[in-house]
Parts: sequence; structure tokens; C-alpha cells
Amino acid sequence: MLTMPTRVELHPLTLSDQDEFCTLVRASSELYGPRMQLPATAEEFQVWMRRFDDGTNQGFLIRVRETGAAAGTVNINSIIRGRYQGASLGYAAFAPSAGRGYMTEGVALALQYAFTDLRLHRMEANIQPTNKASLALVQRLGFRHEGVSPAYLYIGGAWRDHERWSITAPEPWTPDPSLPEF
Ligand SMILES: CC(C)(COP(=O)(O)OP(=O)(O)OC[C@H]1O[C@@H](n2cnc3c(N)ncnc32)[C@H](O)[C@@H]1OP(=O)(O)O)[C@@H](O)C(=O)NCCC(=O)NCCS
Repeated sequence: MLTMPTRVELHPLTLSDQDEFCTLVRASSELYGPRMQLPATAEEFQVWMRRFDDGTNQGFLIRVRETGAAAGTVNINSIIRGRYQGASLGYAAFAPSAGRGYMTEGVALALQYAFTDLRLHRMEANIQPTNKASLALVQRLGFRHEGVSPAYLYIGGAWRDHERWSITAPEPWTPDPSLPEF
């Protein structure tokens, strides 16, 4: 994992980010292709925000400290407690700031938050084998390749194979009280 300090900071995504978020998503359609579906209209954004209501998913903007510009977004999705204590990462750059290392730093901050504040033990990233930029990002952050999950996610009208990458919390790690003792 990257060590701090970073050029970016995480801000929880809020309803007031709507216009900025949608404008940046529309500007990024070429970067995303059919692979990434993010809200591009006010209506879609409001529906999207409901996924953060019950705490199972958390969403952030990655902002460049110096300018305040939103460089991308990162989600900690499907948080599961019990004996798993894990979640799955989703992330996307915004095209005007892509290719400058901001996403790597922002995802590193999300991992730090997940392992320390949320006290999660494991973070996964599931990536299509053709998504070279995303594979490079997780490798820079020290994720392990665990294998291929056939027909793992329904994207662009078809079930797509994904490579499963993961990273576990560095030691020393303080468990969440929801972790069973034995
Ligand atoms: C995957 C994705 C988030 C990666 O974004 P990214 O912009 O490549 O990631 P970073 O911001 O960390 O930038 C890394 C690049 O910046 C370069 N870079 C430039 N200046 C840098 C700096 N000061 N520090 C670090 N890296 C720098 C790196 O060399 C690297 O480029 P390279 O891969 O050509 O070597 C982006 O491609 C994306 O949004 N794709 C569509 C959505 C998607 O696929 N999401 C993931 C689904 S699993």
C-alpha cells in the first residue's frame, strides 16, 4: 500500500455533488466505454445515492488538495461483517484528471479508511481482464491476484469474466467488535 502524504483527499459523496459529478461523468464517457455505468443525469444521480442509505456501501469523491478538483470517485461496496469483514472496491477516474496518479492515491486512502476506520480485514477488486489501467492500479497498491471468476458481473448487457484481486489489512490490525471471538 502507498504511504501518505498524498496529493488528494477523500470526501463522502453527497447530494450537493450532483451537478459536478454528472458533468464529469459525461466528460468521461470515452474513458468508461460500456464498462462503467455512472450517473450522468440528476435523476440517475438521485437513484444512485440511495445505495449509500443503509451503510452497506460508502461512496467518496477523490479531490486534489491543491485545487479542490474532483479527480474521480471510489466506493467501498457490499460491506459484510461476521467472519468475513470485507468489502469490494469500485472506482473511476474523471477524464480531465486521469493518468496523473490521483486514482492510485485516492484508492490507497480508501483502503486506509477501510482497514482503520471501518476495521475491515479484506478488500477485493474485480476487474475485467482487458482493463489494463485498472489492473495496473491494483498492482501498484499491492493487491494479490486470486484467480478468475467466470461470468462474475453483468455489464454492458452480458455476464463478464473478472479477475479477482484482493488485499488484507496490514498488521497490527484492530478488529471490529462484530468479529466473533472464535
Ligand atoms: C481504472 C482507472 C480508474 C485508472 O485510472 P488512472 O488515471 O490510470 O490511475 P491513476 O490516476 O493512478 O494514474 C496512473 C497513471 O498516471 C501516471 N502518472 C502521471 N503522473 C503521475 C504521478 N505524479 N504519480 C503517479 N502516477 C503518475 C502513471 O504513470 C500511470 O500511467 P501509466 O499507467 O500510463 O503508467 C481509469 O482508467 C478509469 O476510470 N477507467 C474506467 C473505469 C474503470 O474501469 N474502473 C475500474 C473498474 S474495475
